[in-house]
Amino acid sequence: MSKNVFILPGDGIGPEIVTEAKKVLDVVNARFDLGLQFDEGLLGGSAIDVHGVPLSDGDLGKARSADAILMGSVGGPKWDQLDRAIRPEKGLLKLRSELDLFSNLRPAILYPQLADASSLKPEVVSGLDILIVRELTGGIYFGEPRGIRTLENGEREGYNTYKYNESEIERIGRNAFATAQKRSKKLCSVDKANVLEATVLWREVMDRLAPEYPDVELSHMYVDNAAMQLVRAPKQFDVLVTGNMFGDILSDCAAMLTGSIGMLPSASMDKNGRGMYEPCHGSAPDIAGQGIANPLATILSAAMMLRYSLDMNAAAEAIELAVSKVLDQGLRTADIYTAGTEKVSTAQMGDAVVEALSA
Ligand code: IPM
Ligand code: MG
Repeated sequence: MSKNVFILPGDGIGPEIVTEAKKVLDVVNARFDLGLQFDEGLLGGSAIDVHGVPLSDGDLGKARSADAILMGSVGGPKWDQLDRAIRPEKGLLKLRSELDLFSNLRPAILYPQLADASSLKPEVVSGLDILIVRELTGGIYFGEPRGIRTLENGEREGYNTYKYNESEIERIGRNAFATAQKRSKKLCSVDKANVLEATVLWREVMDRLAPEYPDVELSHMYVDNAAMQLVRAPKQFDVLVTGNMFGDILSDCAAMLTGSIGMLPSASMDKNGRGMYEPCHGSAPDIAGQGIANPLATILSAAMMLRYSLDMNAAAEAIELAVSKVLDQGLRTADIYTAGTEKVSTAQMGDAVVEALSA
């Protein structure tokens, strides 16, 4: 049975890195006889340029009916001055929200080959394997009311609303507990319950769920402390679960432990495991078009897509193994380059993964 993969390259380095991931998918598609069929659409600034909006109804429809979505990255200075309602990021947020992709998995794994590329000491990060479960369709990203208004005294005020209802917390909590059960059975819930009521409720719901997962050891941590602990002693963590904004921030922080955010894939899934896959990094407009971006986060996102949404484990493993092989060979894009390794371009990195797959 064929499966439809909808590809949204996006902006900045997005098209460059997605091209490499597509090369890799083409190879496993043939080799494992996966029956993948691809279609491509526009998201973010590239969609604004063509349709005037960051996600057209046509592309939203295609995303809805696809079996899985692979996304590059969105945004860039070219569209920064636009009205807030049609900024590139709105397209991505709309996709997440319309498709109910509430569960965002962001693994931070340190490849042993890259221990020297991390800005932290090798002994602090070696063997690192943590997973951030980020709530993706609620919290302050989507809370209403929001806006910028003019007060009676003529001064302007920006405001957002941080809110979570119990069912939103419960469904991400259950996902996190179930995920922890499959790993080392430690779950740390991150909140700011010393200040924010929305996260007092968050903590209460996590505590209420805990007895249903007696094999999982639940702990709680305030987000400021979690940020500090992530750079002080990251290996104390296994699975972290947190809200939308804290997850955004902590996942960038966790990414750097692994040497480069260019290595970090992610999965965003609905309750049935259908989802969108994208690197955690942004569109990196400063290096776009130069052919030097690291395509590995996107290639690894494609592997996650095969595993989580398409049930194609063997192909996913083959891709992950191939990535590890090219790192063994000493090939590095600029972001993970260290003395004694070989610097390669985006396309050379993609080609090397393809070659490792075929070997
Ligand atoms: C991410 C990104 C997005 C987010 C932006 C591009 C809207 O930073 O996926 O982490 O804030 O969620
Ligand atoms: Mg982010």
